[in-house]
Amino acid sequence: MTTISHASIRSGHVSALGVHCDHLDMTIAATYAEFAAREAHGVSPAYERLSLTVSRDDEVLALLGTLPPVKRQPNLLFGVVRFLGGPVEDPAAFHDYTVANWPAIEVEMRTRATQTNEVGRCAVLLPVLAALPQPLALLEVGASAGLCLYPDRYAYRYGGHVVGSGAPVLECAATGVTPPAGVPEVVWRAGLDLNPLDVTDSGDVAWLDALIWPEHAHRRARLRTAAAVAAADPPLLVRGDLVDDLPALAAQAPAGATLVVFHSSVMFYVPAPRREAFVEVVRGLPGHWIANEGPDMLPYHALPKPPAEALHNVLALDGTPLAWTRPHGQAIIWFA
Ligand SMILES: C[S@@+](CC[C@H](N)C(=O)[O-])C[C@H]1O[C@@H](n2cnc3c(N)ncnc32)[C@H](O)[C@@H]1O
Repeated sequence: MTTISHASIRSGHVSALGVHCDHLDMTIAATYAEFAAREAHGVSPAYERLSLTVSRDDEVLALLGTLPPVKRQPNLLFGVVRFLGGPVEDPAAFHDYTVANWPAIEVEMRTRATQTNEVGRCAVLLPVLAALPQPLALLEVGASAGLCLYPDRYAYRYGGHVVGSGAPVLECAATGVTPPAGVPEVVWRAGLDLNPLDVTDSGDVAWLDALIWPEHAHRRARLRTAAAVAAADPPLLVRGDLVDDLPALAAQAPAGATLVVFHSSVMFYVPAPRREAFVEVVRGLPGHWIANEGPDMLPYHALPKPPAEALHNVLALDGTPLAWTRPHGQAIIWFA
């Protein structure tokens, strides 16, 4: 029986339709079935339905098989169909639309990337950020449009505990951690991304919107609000690689502030040797390093059992794992 590696699914390293390769261990059909069960289940009934249907749809699977492996992911296909105005609620309508409009879909899938910028993730970063020596100089690698660079401008609700007074208000179920008394003080913010998105560009914001799953109206609303926060005071966003270009950007951080290099849901894009190179570079920098990534992405020795079947990330400070987090920042379960 084939072992399903979560890392390979998330990195899009899937083999061609129906063919297993030695180093790539999932078919496209299995990738879509796995996405339905592990990512969409309980989070997006529409995408769970769609993904399961695609996993059994030979015509759509064959079309996906013409794309490079990294371009076959469910989130990219569904996001592009939404971006083009196609239907994602009804699997039969989705099939017809996808087959009829494949040339346009293919162009967008080849040029665009899944760059979901989920501001909700600030809610799981906040307890760590607030506990570091203030003020902070924030440097996010894999920043997308940079919306997670404003944790001081948003407000948070952890059950009955509210932190901050800005908007949007980010809801997070927190277990085993006392929410911070206030938001951190941020004196510098910078982002590094292979393809930075611009919150002042309506096309980029439309793409970010299309990447949000259909039922998630609250995420769409907070994207708009957070994009307005960022557009009013745009961050320094640099096009570059998280290994090669990190030291030069980190060197621009002001003295007298704690440099915090952080990243969230980025490492599944990065091949293992480059992840190792990143760890070496980030460990050589002054300040602190916060990671919020899948459990297979970084070398953690002893992780407790994840809380449920659903996907969880690991929140870590300077390489020490602290908590399980849900992918959109909707929950944090502290275990350290
Ligand atoms: C899923 S998005 C996450 C965005 C943001 N961290 C968040 O949590 O909302 C991942 C981002 O990582 C970027 N990325 C992937 N590989 C990268 C690399 N080697 N160097 C810099 N950025 C990279 C992608 O372009 C994308 O914008």
